[in-house]
Parts: sequence; C-alpha cells; structure tokens
Amino acid sequence: MRFEDVYQKVGHIPFITKDNARFIYDLIINEKKVNILELGFAHGTATCFMAAALQELGGGSVTAVDLLNAREIFKPSIEEQLEATGLSQYVNIIRMQTGYTWYLHDEIKRNTINDVCYEIYDLCIIDGPKNWTIDGAAFFMSDKLLKENGYIIFDDYLWTYAAADNSRDVTDGISHRSLSEEERVTPQIREVFELLVKQHPNYGNLQVIEGGEWVIAQKTKSQNKSYVIVHRETMKSMFATLIYKLYKHLLRSGKKPYTTTK
Ligand SMILES: C[S@@+](CC[C@H](N)C(=O)[O-])C[C@H]1O[C@@H](n2cnc3c(N)ncnc32)[C@H](O)[C@@H]1O
Repeated sequence: MRFEDVYQKVGHIPFITKDNARFIYDLIINEKKVNILELGFAHGTATCFMAAALQELGGGSVTAVDLLNAREIFKPSIEEQLEATGLSQYVNIIRMQTGYTWYLHDEIKRNTINDVCYEIYDLCIIDGPKNWTIDGAAFFMSDKLLKENGYIIFDDYLWTYAAADNSRDVTDGISHRSLSEEERVTPQIREVFELLVKQHPNYGNLQVIEGGEWVIAQKTKSQNKSYVIVHRETMKSMFATLIYKLYKHLLRSGKKPYTTTK
C-alpha cells in the first residue's frame, strides 16, 4: 500500500508522527527489513505503516506486542485499524499479562538450540514504558534476537516522568512518587541509548533524530562507530510535533481529542 493511502486511513490516530511514519516506511522498503518486532503498539498506527511497507515488498511480518489491558484502553484497536487498511495478514498481535520482557523471554527460549539463540528479526522498535529497568532489559533481550545489520529504534528519547506529572501519577504501572528525584527528571530512554546501546560492541550507525524523539542504532558488529544528530525539523514538522504533543497531552489527561473510526 502506498504511504499516502495508509496515511489517509490512520494518520489521524496517535502515536506516530508523519515524519517518523515516513521514515520507518522508507527504511523497511529500502533495506528490505521484513521480520519486524514492535514492542508497544497501542492503537497499532505505527504497525499499519510497517505492514503497508511489507505489502509493497510482497511479504513479511510484524510481531506486535503490548499489554493485555491495552485492548480496553486503545480505541480504535489495532485489530480495527488493520481491518480498515486491509493489512491484517502482515501482523501477529500478542498481548501479555506483565509486558514485553516476558514475551522476549519466550522468544529467546523458542529460538534457542544447544545454548545458542538464533537471530530472527531485521528490525526492532521499542516504544513502551520508557523505563530504564524495563527498556534496558528489553534492549539486551532484543539484541539476542536481532540479525546482523538489523536496526533497533527507540521512541521517547527525552521523555521524563517529571514532564508527565501534569497529566498523571502512574505511567504503565510505575508510580511516579515511588521514584527518586533523579529518576523522575532523567530521560530514561536517553540513558538506555547513551549508556547501553552506544557502548555495546554490536552497535554502530547511531542516529538521534532531533525533534522527532526517535533514536536508531544498527547491529553492525563492527569496531567502527558513528554517532550523528539528524536535524530534519522544518517549520511544518515543528508545528506538526507541537500538535502531536498537545494531542498526547489531551489523551493522557482523559480528554478525547479524536473519535473512533467505528
Ligand atoms: C506510545 S504507545 C505505542 C505507540 C505505537 N508504537 C505507535 O507509534 O503507534 C506505548 C505502548 O506501550 C505499551 N506498554 C507499556 N508498557 C509495556 C510493557 N511493559 N509491555 C508491553 N507493552 C507496554 C502501552 O500499553 C502502550 O500501548
């Protein structure tokens, strides 16, 4: 499915910006990344863009993992959006009781033969609780399943519990009050990326997409590392990001900025 066609159907549903959607769509097509693991899908909007790219390539699959209770929270649901776009056949939807780290446990176990874990994914996108402990662990576990030259992407590079305080007290099961002041004000995905991914011997081609909240690394398995900050902000995308943040804020404060497509 062409990018503009899928954008027309799901582009108004959170949580992915048009720039990031275009980026992942092009990455999948240009680099033929056909086995994809998405950790945290919410409404399945990013999932639809990835599935549309797979359809253009003629095959592949997205394994999309979220929490059991996401089914009640996110309307329209991932199933409804995939049905509306006709892309259901490209996605395997998984809902876990406690979260994606236990799904990664299951995947590592399923793919281990004689104490070796086989790498099965070309691309892994981590977009869940934005938490050092959970997402740090998810990084090391995903690495075991990611093929050489595969990519790992994190959203919410600069997100903090402190900034989310205005709209809620708990994020994905973590009570903000239970955290130290330092944990509240430190962007935890930034720490995962800068301290775990960047120092990991398998990862190079590190990119921070300024203004987009996304960071990317490639499993180059090489000593040569590059780290670039990509400036892609135009006035139009700055405005779109502002609207998107307002949208997210309204959602978290319990107000509904959109209606379901049902
Ligand atoms: C920002 S949304 C994902 C948005 C989606 N990737 C997109 O761009 O369209 C974050 C999702 O992570 C899920 N989540 C949070 N903690 C999780 C965990 N430990 N395991 C699985 N999913 C989790 C939430 O339920 C929510 O659906």
